[in-house]
Amino acid sequence: MSFWDKMTGSFWGEESLPVLLMVLALAVLLLHFRREERASLANTVGFFFVCQFGQMISGLLHALDLARAAAVTHEVFVIGAGVAVIRLWGLLVFRVVLPAVKLNPPRITEDIFVIIAYIAWFMVRLRYAGLDLGSILATSAVITAVIAFAMQDTLGNILGGLALQLDNSIEVGDWIKVDDISGKVVDIRWRSTLVETRNWETVVFPNSQLMKNKFLVLGRRSDQPVQWRRWVWFNVGLHTAPTRVVSVVEDSILQTDIANVAKYPAPNCVLMDMDNKGYARYALRYWLTDLAPDDTTDAAIRWHIMTALQRSGIKLAMEERSIHITKENEKYEEVVHQREVLLRIKTLRRVELFSQLTDAELRELAERLRYSPFAKGNVIARQGDEKSHWLYIIINGEAQVFVDLPNGKRRTVSTLGRGNFFGEMGLLTGAPRSASVIAKTDVECYRIDKDVVEELLHARPAIAEEISHILVKRRAELDIALQNLDATGPHKDLSQQRYEILETIKRFFSLGN
Ligand code: CMP
Repeated sequence: MSFWDKMTGSFWGEESLPVLLMVLALAVLLLHFRREERASLANTVGFFFVCQFGQMISGLLHALDLARAAAVTHEVFVIGAGVAVIRLWGLLVFRVVLPAVKLNPPRITEDIFVIIAYIAWFMVRLRYAGLDLGSILATSAVITAVIAFAMQDTLGNILGGLALQLDNSIEVGDWIKVDDISGKVVDIRWRSTLVETRNWETVVFPNSQLMKNKFLVLGRRSDQPVQWRRWVWFNVGLHTAPTRVVSVVEDSILQTDIANVAKYPAPNCVLMDMDNKGYARYALRYWLTDLAPDDTTDAAIRWHIMTALQRSGIKLAMEERSIHITKENEKYEEVVHQREVLLRIKTLRRVELFSQLTDAELRELAERLRYSPFAKGNVIARQGDEKSHWLYIIINGEAQVFVDLPNGKRRTVSTLGRGNFFGEMGLLTGAPRSASVIAKTDVECYRIDKDVVEELLHARPAIAEEISHILVKRRAELDIALQNLDATGPHKDLSQQRYEILETIKRFFSLGN
């Protein structure tokens, strides 16, 4: 046998080509799916080829008749190549296949499986090479005991990490709170657990600390979705009945879709305390579905509480001291009121509908408006509602008018902005609300109640005519939205419609001709 044949015969077996092809295939797959891991991939594939080269050297030694050296070198590099193959499979299974089926085991699990595979591979090869496993195990037990003694802390952390994993106390993605630190678990490693806080910090908790001390897993409950109860506090004077406060706040919040607020359990408002400072303390409790934006969602809820109370004319309680100061200055409230009325008159002047009103009429109207702010998402009017006898004028922000169709779909009819009014159809004809109106942004409105409108129409019947024009146009748009007709569809004559609407208004308000 030639020197060359002897050399290749020793290191190139029939399994060599399939193994080589498998490694190349794994490398291509991993490079495709885990580009970010290419450095680690290159190291592993590089290591595999180094081991192949090592096996060539062992072949060379074999050809040179250095049988013992050749056997040892061969075994070492076969073990090395096997380690590289195991690592590639580990990468494929844990970082490509499992994530693809929505399983994201923490890194420590991957490490454990891969290490067990390494040890098994090592044992198999040693057994194959004819070594006695029993003595190896005995020796390794002694070494393990020595190492364990020397590395008690480290082992504590490692075992802590294992225990955390095995009993599922925490998982990657959980939000935990330890002392005053709370954040999201991003990795559970051998020695430590990494937690990212909302302040853009990463806190490293030694696993043994997590095992020894109590910590909270926020928002987690068995068989329930992840959501965390939050408390938003506010105070209202004792002169307002708690049932009213609770229903005003709950009605507003329950009707609105607020980002990250769970629908179930529904938010609720409770009277928590009554103290001798003259006010009652309330809490609005809601369940937060994404635990990251806690303060911003609290702020949104606060804003909804504030606007709901303002619309109902309920004031948040002030500190006693400020009440005294305010009372001392008798003119203060009057000045504030006059300033507000002037502002209202200025705003009303910009509304076309009231362009014919005299200054005195505008002032009268301004005095009787009700300031009604809405937070983004609030339902301001609900289609079919029969009990709301008022209209709104928008002074800031945008509102969206839409209709719910019989097939369950929702269709936008119009978007209204500053100076526009809505709610006139129900108010002027006594019909239920023809559409729903939702606050597209935060919206500030003035609400005008039916008795005020009635007086206004009696004083200025021309306003009824003006409104009937707008009403006809809006009706036509509504018909298009509801029946899917185009504008040229089989409508009645417009002037006929206007006449009918005007007559309805006149009848409803007993206006003469
Ligand atoms: P009302 O029916 O009382 O309540 C819903 C309100 O939506 C309605 O009064 C109008 O003010 C408003 N609305 C209905 N259709 C339109 C439209 N086409 N354009 C603008 N606003 C509309």
